[in-house]
Amino acid sequence: MVSLDRTADQLDPAFVPTHVAIIMDGNGRWAQQRGQPRLFGHRAGTENLREILRACVEFGIKILTIYAFSTENWGRPPEEVRGLLSILRNVIDRELEELNREGVQLRHIGDLSRIPDDLRQKVLSAIERTADNDRLIVNVAFNYGGRAEIVHAIQEIVRDGHSPEAITEELVSHYLYTSNLPDPDLIIRTSGELRVSNFLIWQSAYAEYYFPNVYWPDFNREELLKALFHFAERDRRYGKL
Ligand code: IPE
Ligand code: IPE
Ligand code: MG
Repeated sequence: MVSLDRTADQLDPAFVPTHVAIIMDGNGRWAQQRGQPRLFGHRAGTENLREILRACVEFGIKILTIYAFSTENWGRPPEEVRGLLSILRNVIDRELEELNREGVQLRHIGDLSRIPDDLRQKVLSAIERTADNDRLIVNVAFNYGGRAEIVHAIQEIVRDGHSPEAITEELVSHYLYTSNLPDPDLIIRTSGELRVSNFLIWQSAYAEYYFPNVYWPDFNREELLKALFHFAERDRRYGKL
């Protein structure tokens, strides 16, 4: 059993996941509970990232992948989609220098071609600006979908002229957006939903899942620590004995 009163110094570094991925879900319901518009929740969720990024560094996590906008999220009302795009824009404008100082290396997975030109340029220059940092890799999944990623990989594999015999798991992995990253060890989905919603469907083959019953804006350092204690107790067998 995982007791809830353990502190960070009781974390065994050998059992801290290298790569944590988070489906940051529940912003809308969090806002609704407070009688606020959904975008209020998205802003609170974005604020929350600051504490989580710091906690990742503190706990020794090396890579954090965050699901910020799915390929299916375009189907939301235009006002919400516009709001989410503008949050991404504002975060880069306001937080880039601080993130850079803290040693965060920003990356992106997904398809940038569908987002407005100015925003795409901002994302690309943020990636370039932080490329030499190595304290924490923060991989932002924006306009990301696991199926779209696999389709894109197949298109590129065919375009590059690989023969059927040359197609291995390693080759497919190499053509995914995550090609130079290890697979996630731990995938957290907040808000109590028990589904994957098209997130890292190839890469999660042997990930451990954790589903805390809190909305994303309430997922704080303590909640992350709890997730890590749960992870440390998992027995990862990879099909073996
Ligand atoms: C997650 O929160 C953020 C995005 C999907 C962009 P939601 O917006 O899905 O919040 P709920 O699930 O409706 O509460
Ligand atoms: C998944 O959450 C996408 C993100 C967190 C960005 P959704 O809220 O979009 O997923 P569903 O609709 O509950 O499956
Ligand atoms: Mg949701």
